[in-house]
Amino acid sequence: MTENGAGLSRFARDLPPVDRFVSLGEGSTPLVSLERLAARLGLRRLAAKMETLNPTGSYKDRVAAMSVSLALQRGNPGWITTSSGNAGLAMAAYGTRAGLPGQIFIGGSAPREKRLALAPYDVEVVPVDGIDRESTSTALSELLQEVSLAAARHDLFVGVTLHAFNPDGMRGVDTLGFELAEQDPEATHVYLPAGGGGLLTATARGLRIRSVPSRVIASQPVGCAPIVRFLAGEIPVPEIRRGESSILSLQLPNPPDGLLAAKAVVESGGWGTVVTDDAVGQAQRLLATTEGVLVEPAAAVALAALISDAASGRLTAADNPVVVLSGAGWKDLSAFANDADADRPIEVGQLPGRVDAWARTIRRPHER
Ligand SMILES: Cc1ncc(COP(=O)(O)O)c(C=O)c1O
Repeated sequence: MTENGAGLSRFARDLPPVDRFVSLGEGSTPLVSLERLAARLGLRRLAAKMETLNPTGSYKDRVAAMSVSLALQRGNPGWITTSSGNAGLAMAAYGTRAGLPGQIFIGGSAPREKRLALAPYDVEVVPVDGIDRESTSTALSELLQEVSLAAARHDLFVGVTLHAFNPDGMRGVDTLGFELAEQDPEATHVYLPAGGGGLLTATARGLRIRSVPSRVIASQPVGCAPIVRFLAGEIPVPEIRRGESSILSLQLPNPPDGLLAAKAVVESGGWGTVVTDDAVGQAQRLLATTEGVLVEPAAAVALAALISDAASGRLTAADNPVVVLSGAGWKDLSAFANDADADRPIEVGQLPGRVDAWARTIRRPHER
């Protein structure tokens, strides 16, 4: 049988050498034109890189595919990772696919949907305290140090999605930049969310290797924006003592790849943009209601930054921006729980009346 379709192996020439790429069809995600949203924002063009469509719903599948392929190559008996949900889910899926056991240390505030999605896998999931809305820089450093030491003791592959801990695995994310280079080499700006800084660093590297001159924009929530504040010259190093943003996955006050990410932004001629948690919620809703695309809040941070830059004039109608939608909306539905619970069931006999009432509200295209 020949396995068709997506996967990292297409880019093997530019990736760390492995005999076999473990794949679940990651990558080759579509670049989708968001025309209705572009018109709303006064932009001529806007496109979204749909990392939401990876096998476990986030770009982390690119890291997991590369990491697990490397673990097999190196003969590691298993893997270990930290996660706010997405990395753990990706490693669980790809580790299982390769027959490699794994252990995941997951932040205590990881959303229910991500924790539930891990349950069917035969991997050990251990929640850890102190990595949450008010994470301190010390808590994160200690966790990552303990994971590295434990991995060394047992010859485990460190599947952490950071260049500082897993540089070869992170090369898998270069493929995001390679694909963008094929899909839209004319993109003027690439908006990315930044937490630890690894996603941005690798995507920018992929673009640079392919000589695409897009400006790379680091997007962070205002309550935890060490990279953007460092870029703005507000702080001497990309590190704050404690974060206070509700945006899960981006709660890293001392991003281990912060300096790498800042360097990549500067080299590309880009900048950093901060957004409030409320603006992130609004961007998430706007994307769903104008384009039908539901993303998780961490992904909506990049769109909120793009919206803010369009409003301030930093982006103009002449630009051709791309927003990387890093994770799918079904992974964190907490913001919508009240709306969904408000729906009350009807008797079938009430159905005609409900349709009639709703149909009266529809406006035909020429009336809109
Ligand atoms: C959906 C999503 N977007 C963005 C990020 C941030 O990526 P990085 O930590 O590499 O900056 C993460 C990290 O967990 C994520 O899960």
